[in-house]
Amino acid sequence: NSGATDAKNLRVKLVLLGDSGVGKSCIVLRFVRGQFDPTSKVTIGASFLSQTIALQDSTTVKFEIWDTAGQERYAALAPLYYRGASVAVVVYDITSPESFQKAQYWVKELQKHGSPDMVMALVGNKADLLENREVSDQDGMEYAEKNRMFFIETSAKTADNINQLFEEIAKRLP
Ligand code: GTP
Ligand code: MG
Repeated sequence: NSGATDAKNLRVKLVLLGDSGVGKSCIVLRFVRGQFDPTSKVTIGASFLSQTIALQDSTTVKFEIWDTAGQERYAALAPLYYRGASVAVVVYDITSPESFQKAQYWVKELQKHGSPDMVMALVGNKADLLENREVSDQDGMEYAEKNRMFFIETSAKTADNINQLFEEIAKRLP
């Protein structure tokens, strides 16, 4: 079975959810443009970006990314973006237990209203701020396991695990 004959081009709608300030827009900017913006502005409504990656078997995956606004006033808009999405990335900040609680809220909402075969990832961002850590990687991992999610800690600032996040998602696509 030669890899070349398995090559395909996939298009994937992905939505990012999570509290305001956890770094969703910075994760996307790092993944799509290889940049980090320490003065990143809060997202209004949502923003859209896309990025294509190639896997080892020469499959390409085009991620169509909806980066939602985490501020409470936009919460009612979220279903517009996660409806029809095949991947959801729920982000919290490892220095913020409140943001971990909020992530769990989004996971429950997705389980209730998202599509049942959605690939879900739980991301603990700002992993560079180790000295300020308030959510252990154990807690993140256990919650993800219980909810059949892929778990990873990332840093949009240092780029740590950002590409890995999207590669691991790509491998888990049905
Ligand atoms: P909303 O758009 O309001 O939902 O927020 P957001 O989740 O998109 O947050 P954003 O990406 O705008 O980042 C918020 C702040 O966190 C910015 O000041 C970033 O510079 C900072 N930040 C984001 N990612 C990281 C990271 O990995 N490490 C550190 N140290 N700071 C980060
Ligand atoms: Mg944002």
